[in-house]
Amino acid sequence: MRTQGGKLMAAGIDDISIYIPRLYVDAADFAEARGLDPAKLQKGLGVSKMAIVDTNQDPACLASNACLTIMQNNKLSPEDIGRLYVSTESSFDESKAMNSYVIGMLEQVYGQGAFEHCGGVETKFACVSGSYALYDNTNWIRAGEAEGKAALVVVSDIAKYDMGSSGEMTQGAGAVAMLLNDQPRLLAFDPKVTATSIKDEYDFYRPFGKETPIVHGQYSNLLYMIQVRKALEIYKKKSISSELIKLESGETILDHMDYINMHLPYSNMGKKALAYLVRHEWRQLPRWKKIIHEIGMEEPIPKDPRGTIESVLGDQEYMAKDHEFTKMFTKTPEFQEVYEAKLASSLIASKMIGNLYTASLYLGFRSSLEFEYQKGINLDGKRVGFGSYGSGASAMVFSGLIQPEYEEIVKSMNLEAELGPRRKLTLNEYERIHESKLGPEESMLKPKHEFILVDVNTTTESRGERRYVFNE
Ligand code: COA
Repeated sequence: MRTQGGKLMAAGIDDISIYIPRLYVDAADFAEARGLDPAKLQKGLGVSKMAIVDTNQDPACLASNACLTIMQNNKLSPEDIGRLYVSTESSFDESKAMNSYVIGMLEQVYGQGAFEHCGGVETKFACVSGSYALYDNTNWIRAGEAEGKAALVVVSDIAKYDMGSSGEMTQGAGAVAMLLNDQPRLLAFDPKVTATSIKDEYDFYRPFGKETPIVHGQYSNLLYMIQVRKALEIYKKKSISSELIKLESGETILDHMDYINMHLPYSNMGKKALAYLVRHEWRQLPRWKKIIHEIGMEEPIPKDPRGTIESVLGDQEYMAKDHEFTKMFTKTPEFQEVYEAKLASSLIASKMIGNLYTASLYLGFRSSLEFEYQKGINLDGKRVGFGSYGSGASAMVFSGLIQPEYEEIVKSMNLEAELGPRRKLTLNEYERIHESKLGPEESMLKPKHEFILVDVNTTTESRGERRYVFNE
């Protein structure tokens, strides 16, 4: 590890910007059209609006718009950027990396060849790849390879599911750009504690040529929690052995995280996953006795505790009891306190925007910063834990400390203003966009100071070539 005056070199997130498409579907309208109780979306899943891309937008446009904002907000020139990574699972080319499209768009503003020196790739591992990209670029900085330059990591996705499928109520779209450097104003990552878990799984995947994923939703939810828990175990071992954290008797590793950001395919999944992790951690501690007393029932155990995920999901009696137990656990004052203090603010943006796949964890982080700051809390030195999950499947758990200069960035965060005036789609408009019935020239909104897609070539020799323009 590179050191500066004997101290470990810091690396982390200096600034963060978002780009969210201005079209949306309202959860109540959607529920009515699909014959669902609106409360299932609004209360059950925590979805109130789902951002939808216009006909002239693709994930590369979203990423470029988020990059341009962060560059302009920080008055950066291309020379300041040494690496640009794009993480996505909405890729539209099997070979050409999305970051080359993004660089092409940015060069329309900064001049042709302006980013020629800048390396980078597109990374893929469902919703977790952005976390790997952050980790790799943080280590590029720590290793002293950056030579004073910053890295841009952009997570960008369009969460689109088959019409009429149960996944359709967990859609959304958007991009988050993160500027990484060795003097981060927002968050410095804790070194030597990043933990991963990985397993060959088919919970959610998108075969070549298919625009929407094949999803086993309940299986995926449980797998997500199991994999993150495994990564948390490794994080715990690493943070104790590296002496980052000293666990006193009766404490859990989660007690040492002031904030916890979880991957959010929908906002309530964050709460479900937090409850799962907290249960797992508290079960070993003296405080558990009191919790069981408050709930008034023992924690249920599956018929085959060492069985597969399928066998657990198929154990209906256990699943029903576990559901009941979880509901009561999440109502205990002890869990409520953890939830309100560590997680709740990270869910606000997700409710308003929906699923962002790779970007959802980082939209949650951005949301947590803004809404915790608004409470008047001094965030300096607070430890933020991240629980990242990507189907297929891999999880990452890592953490960082909020830096003393955070206020410079956080004081001007304003989600409502950044979302701007949004346009609600009718269900008919939404379905026409969803089924790709409209071309880029038939967009619903007039572009404003943003990149748009103008053409996708259909000729044999240049099929798939995309053309973008920047609209002042
Ligand atoms: N009022 C209030 N709440 C209601 C309700 C109603 N009328 N009807 C259902 N609910 C609640 C359920 O109790 C459940 O809450 P819980 O999880 O706290 O128990 C929630 O709403 C969802 O209902 P459920 O029956 O589980 O929904 P579903 O099986 O139809 O679909 C998903 C939910 C999430 C599985 C589905 O939308 C999906 O697959 N989404 C994609 C997720 C994804 O991409 N995962 C992959 C990577 S993370």
